[in-house]
Amino acid sequence: MQKKIVIGSDHAGYALKEQIKNHLKFAGVEILDVGCDSPESCSYPDIAHELCSQIQSGAYTTGILICGTGIGMSMCANKHAGIRAACCSDVFSARATRLHNDANVLCFGARVVGYGVACELVDAFLNNVFEGGRHQPRVDAINALDESEKK
Ligand code: RB5
Repeated sequence: MQKKIVIGSDHAGYALKEQIKNHLKFAGVEILDVGCDSPESCSYPDIAHELCSQIQSGAYTTGILICGTGIGMSMCANKHAGIRAACCSDVFSARATRLHNDANVLCFGARVVGYGVACELVDAFLNNVFEGGRHQPRVDAINALDESEKK
């Protein structure tokens, strides 16, 4: 399993984030929590930006973002160069996006999945690595979009 990750949530994902942190600590994973720090209302784009900055700086390679649906977080994360965020609610997709898309951020919704499924999503994501091979040029093409979209 990946042994060092960065995690973040908005208020809707706060309670599940705390549970996932415990799950990961039990598995010996070192965690940086970029917030939020309470169930008080906050803005998910700010949290997504903070988490993506940690990955862009090279301090972390892998992140987890939780909001109500996982969708807002994934939209924001994917605006950041070098970030390949996948919003998942099933274990097959959480595994496949690591193997095929080299996803580096897993997003899910606390209003979509419960604690048990969330733990399985996280485990599937962190226990698998990019297969490369035929998938490499496709991921290269995704990454090239970071450049082509720059003004
Ligand atoms: C917050 O109410 C909710 O909009 C947010 O957590 C998320 O689901 C957005 O995509």
